[in-house]
Amino acid sequence: MSYPHLSTPVSLGSLILKNRLVMSQMTMNYAAAEGFVTEKLIRYYLERAKGGVGLILVEGTFFTPEGRGYKNQLSLSSPDHVKGLRQLTDAAHGVADAPKIFLQIHHSGWRASSKVSGLPPVGPSTFAPYPGAEVARDLSVKEIKELVEAHILAAAMAKEAGFDGVDFHCAHGYLIPSFFSPLSNQRTDEYGGDLAGRTRFLLEIIRGTKERLGRDFPVTIKISGDEYIEEGLALKEMVKIARMAEESGIDGIMISAGTVGGKKVEDLSQAHKVLRTLPMMTNPGCLVPLAAEMKKTLRIPVIAVGRINHPALAEDIIVKGQADLVAIGRALLADPYFPRKAFAGKEEEIRPCIACNEGCYKRIFQQLDIRCSVNPTLGREEEISCPPAASPKRVAVIGGGPAGMEAAYAARERGHHVLLLEASEKLGGQLNLASLPPGRKEIERFCKFIKNRLQRSGVKILKGKRATASLLQKHGPDVVILAAGAHPRRIKIRGLEEERMISAWEVLSSRGGIREPILVLGAGLVGCETADLLSEAAKNVLLAEILPEMAPGQDADTKAYFTLKFKKNGVEVLTGTELRSVEGEKAILQRGAEEFQVRVETVVYAVGSQANDELYKELVSSGLKVIKIGDCVQPRTIMEAVQEGFQAGRSI
Ligand SMILES: Cc1cc2nc3c(=O)[nH]c(=O)nc-3n(C[C@H](O)[C@H](O)[C@H](O)COP(=O)(O)OP(=O)(O)OC[C@H]3O[C@@H](n4cnc5c(N)ncnc54)[C@H](O)[C@@H]3O)c2cc1C
Ligand SMILES: Cc1cc2nc3c(=O)[nH]c(=O)nc-3n(C[C@H](O)[C@H](O)[C@H](O)COP(=O)(O)O)c2cc1C
Ligand code: SF4
Repeated sequence: MSYPHLSTPVSLGSLILKNRLVMSQMTMNYAAAEGFVTEKLIRYYLERAKGGVGLILVEGTFFTPEGRGYKNQLSLSSPDHVKGLRQLTDAAHGVADAPKIFLQIHHSGWRASSKVSGLPPVGPSTFAPYPGAEVARDLSVKEIKELVEAHILAAAMAKEAGFDGVDFHCAHGYLIPSFFSPLSNQRTDEYGGDLAGRTRFLLEIIRGTKERLGRDFPVTIKISGDEYIEEGLALKEMVKIARMAEESGIDGIMISAGTVGGKKVEDLSQAHKVLRTLPMMTNPGCLVPLAAEMKKTLRIPVIAVGRINHPALAEDIIVKGQADLVAIGRALLADPYFPRKAFAGKEEEIRPCIACNEGCYKRIFQQLDIRCSVNPTLGREEEISCPPAASPKRVAVIGGGPAGMEAAYAARERGHHVLLLEASEKLGGQLNLASLPPGRKEIERFCKFIKNRLQRSGVKILKGKRATASLLQKHGPDVVILAAGAHPRRIKIRGLEEERMISAWEVLSSRGGIREPILVLGAGLVGCETADLLSEAAKNVLLAEILPEMAPGQDADTKAYFTLKFKKNGVEVLTGTELRSVEGEKAILQRGAEEFQVRVETVVYAVGSQANDELYKELVSSGLKVIKIGDCVQPRTIMEAVQEGFQAGRSI
């Protein structure tokens, strides 16, 4: 078996886990309105159970109304919830060589929102984690004692529902960890003051659970090894808290990092301290040193987590003794069979998570159900198997970007005869550009994965072959899938010669040789990425955006990344600014009523892209059956391209 250390069984309390890979807790927003288990949720976990992981930590589950953090969060707030959860554990335990399964018990504390729960958030003290955040109401001692009891009761119900253990969420600034820090806990009674007071809430929960449910019923916790905020708790204090929890009876501990609030570090060489959702700009395994430090002091199993995206990295962590187990989250959203494929030595078949956060973190913060950019079957696990088509058809796919490649693969899986035509010499479409800016390399892994999978699939691939209506008529397919993507939107600027204008796409693919000062027009994702790339070599880069904000529609961490990077590299950002015209070396810009000039040699335009759908009408009028997918419908993201590709290929 590959990865001999990772695949070795390990003890966790009274249990033996079949291997050292743990599925990290992830709120999916798949539950029904009152937090009841749904068929969708069961199928999602069933697939991960089949995938070969040793332990599943089911997502953060609320148990009191004010502790609810997400609209469709799973709940264990009444005995009525037990039945559905029992179906979930039965499903997971029912697979061959089943994993163990724990439930994470979760109170959002001052991170809850009254918009979701209908109640004011609560915490140890009246506190708001950042300016403008909802202010939490402080809990009375009586309420704290009731909450200790509510945690224990939730654990008891989890046991009744068939879970093999429970995990208490003590990381990321939710209720329990907000007691740990003097910043959020200013109490002077038994639940505040010194460290013993500030950890009392947690330790009473642990001891109470162990007393009520028996020493043999495993309890784990997840904590932040460092809060990474100004005046927050750092590793030294967190080790002390972990030791106290160990002495109180926990059986294992997962080491994450971060909380909400003022960030301490502004240095992107330590990106994980700033970008809490660990996007692709952070390093794989960036939180492992925290786990390794914890392991030096603790006797119980330590679980590392955070951007562990390759089995070789996970194996290395175990070999080096940095942790006893390794948890993976998003990588299991992208591919539930990550463990099974890794242990079978088929890691090149693992669909890689690219840490883009588009389908997961971004959607959870919008209170939406979780999807995945690279995995079209996440949340639609019933569609994983591709049934053979009743009668195989001849399918032609135009375009070898993510949409076309996904469509061709899905159609081939159903047994159709598939021909894919790609105009350029290279498969991948825009992914070839998207992976070039700093910090975007993960996209290349996905591109490589779909290319290799396609090449193994039996799809006939013609590169350097531009599809035309007459070519396709000659070929005579039963169905054409048009996945011709997009091209950059062109603009005309009064007074500016064509040769001083270049599209962001050309800059990314050609690099170098661009005369400064450079004005990048458009601070959407592509404009920001292009300015970022240019500023690595060029000293004089200006970024102008007509909208009032930079990177609109992007998540907070992506915006934070560009803000810090532009500050470091001296990129000047002008929002709410329009380029009116150019006169020689002078660019005339307008912001509100103010008109001003800057010196410019080259204008790089990144003002969006346009669907490349010219062929569509021609194909339809020549009598062909055509399905249009991806950016050639409307330019969007990898997620839509992959999902529409999968749907189109399956639907034939
Ligand atoms: C710089 C950049 C950064 C990006 N970053 C991100 C990101 O971080 N996250 C994200 O989700 N999305 C990102 N995107 C967008 C994402 O890459 C696209 O949404 C996605 O690639 C669209 O896939 P597609 O298959 O529909 O089209 P494309 O990727 O454009 O592929 C279309 C393919 O069709 C081929 N083609 C066109 N006409 C013909 C023809 N007549 N015959 C044969 N072949 C033809 C083209 O050569 C091309 O290879 C980025 C895009 C760019 C340009
Ligand atoms: C959509 C989503 C939901 C999450 N929900 C939880 C949660 O309910 N409880 C928790 O402890 N961590 C939660 N996390 C954090 C993950 O458990 C994990 O610590 C994090 O994603 C880093 O691991 P990864 O890089 O392997 O994904 C969530 C992460 C994601 C992406
Ligand atoms: S949406 Fe992106 S970050 Fe989230 S699991 Fe999928 S690939 Fe990974």
